[in-house]
Amino acid sequence: MANKRIVLSSDHSALELRAAVAAHVTSLGWEVVDIGPTSTESTHYPTHGQAAAERVVSGECALGIIICGTGQGIMMAANKVAGIRCGVCSDTFSARMIRQHNDANMLSMGARVIGVGLALDIVEAFLSAEFEGGRHATRVAMIEPTA
Ligand code: RB5
Repeated sequence: MANKRIVLSSDHSALELRAAVAAHVTSLGWEVVDIGPTSTESTHYPTHGQAAAERVVSGECALGIIICGTGQGIMMAANKVAGIRCGVCSDTFSARMIRQHNDANMLSMGARVIGVGLALDIVEAFLSAEFEGGRHATRVAMIEPTA
């Protein structure tokens, strides 16, 4: 891992969960770069997904965690940024596998889908897994943008 900095963002639906994730990730020894928002006023998930993605592709942060109501919209927005591989997870198996097989550099979750306990387990599974390379590297290269 290039560094132990992780960017966190969400839309208005996930401020509480994002705060819990930030505390947990910090307790696991990561430096959290929380780019907001800080208000529960309705906002637009693409803005926050893309802003977090930019922190990852720039190299400032090694990984990112983003949250919206379902996790789906903010994941779609992040994946539009070249170099981002982001998956939505509602289970720990998928969270581990998107690191091991897909070299995911961002995790998305749905604050209206899962509870805080499961979300923190998912985060831990994502952060503790490592990309296995080998045949998976060939496949990951095949999903990189072509120009
Ligand atoms: C906001 O109401 C909601 O649409 C958003 O959080 C997310 O679920 C979109 O994918």
